[in-house]
Amino acid sequence: MNMVRHFLDIHRLDAETLRAILDDAHARKAARKGWPKGRVDADAPAKDRVLAMIFEKNSTRTRFSFDAAIRQLGGDAIIANAADMQLGRGEPVEDTARVLSRMVDAVMIRANDHEDVERFARVSTVPVVNALTDRSHPCQILADLMTIEEHRGPVAGKTLAWVGDGNNVCASFIHAAPKFGFQLNVACPSDYHPDLHDLQRGGNHVHLTSDPREAVAGADVVVTDTWVSMGDQDYEERLAAFEAYGVDAVLMKQAAPDAVFLHCLPAHRGEEVSDAVLDGPQSVVWDEAENRIHAQKAVLAWCFGG
Ligand code: CP
Ligand code: NVA
Repeated sequence: MNMVRHFLDIHRLDAETLRAILDDAHARKAARKGWPKGRVDADAPAKDRVLAMIFEKNSTRTRFSFDAAIRQLGGDAIIANAADMQLGRGEPVEDTARVLSRMVDAVMIRANDHEDVERFARVSTVPVVNALTDRSHPCQILADLMTIEEHRGPVAGKTLAWVGDGNNVCASFIHAAPKFGFQLNVACPSDYHPDLHDLQRGGNHVHLTSDPREAVAGADVVVTDTWVSMGDQDYEERLAAFEAYGVDAVLMKQAAPDAVFLHCLPAHRGEEVSDAVLDGPQSVVWDEAENRIHAQKAVLAWCFGG
């Protein structure tokens, strides 16, 4: 039996485990309030551990937050772009997984094709963490839920509105809705709706509409993301299709008066979000970015058996 603790997708973990990871993230952040960012946590759960970080796509937040996270846990990181590895010359994912399993204690992968992360994890004898694929971005959603809870209390019972592309980030929100007990209204143009299997996973926790105003009405949280994700080729078509899906001050007025605005970043100001919303009083996007560190520390600590 494979007992390796992979963090591949939110729908693969039980609600109790996910809740424990999020609680640990909150606790770890509180415990080091005011500390310099390089100081190691008192319990150092990754002491003597090395995390490999493999990137097939660009990254700012994920790269820096995982590197900071493993250091704060007392461990170390080795970072590589996939294009610089033999992966970039066609070495099989499985052989790469077998080799890295002998050299490091966990592997974080940002991949173009979700199936490559699954293939890596099937062979790896050390934990594998999904750091974004074309299909999901589970680490992001843990940071997002943490941010919501910091600003508005427990996420269970809240209503979240996703406006825009039914993309990888949206998919992980859908996976999280039944696990954490919140309602998710998703407003997408019909050609850019979420994956049907994901919608099934969301069940009655997810409501799909093409009307942003309907999705946002009374919501506690409004979330969006870029209309053109890494790897998407149809830039002009997308800009046209999403024209009515920008989050601006007028749309935010439909939400609850104390609603918060989230965006995983990078943002495209004037496209999916206006400057006034991103820089406005309801925006919690900088806390959200910081929380990537704290949430991923909890994920890594769990991977290492915590
Ligand atoms: N939100 C996020 O994953 O950002 P990066 O692409 O900069 O890592
Ligand atoms: N949906 C975006 C998220 C970036 C963090 C992308 O995949 O490019």
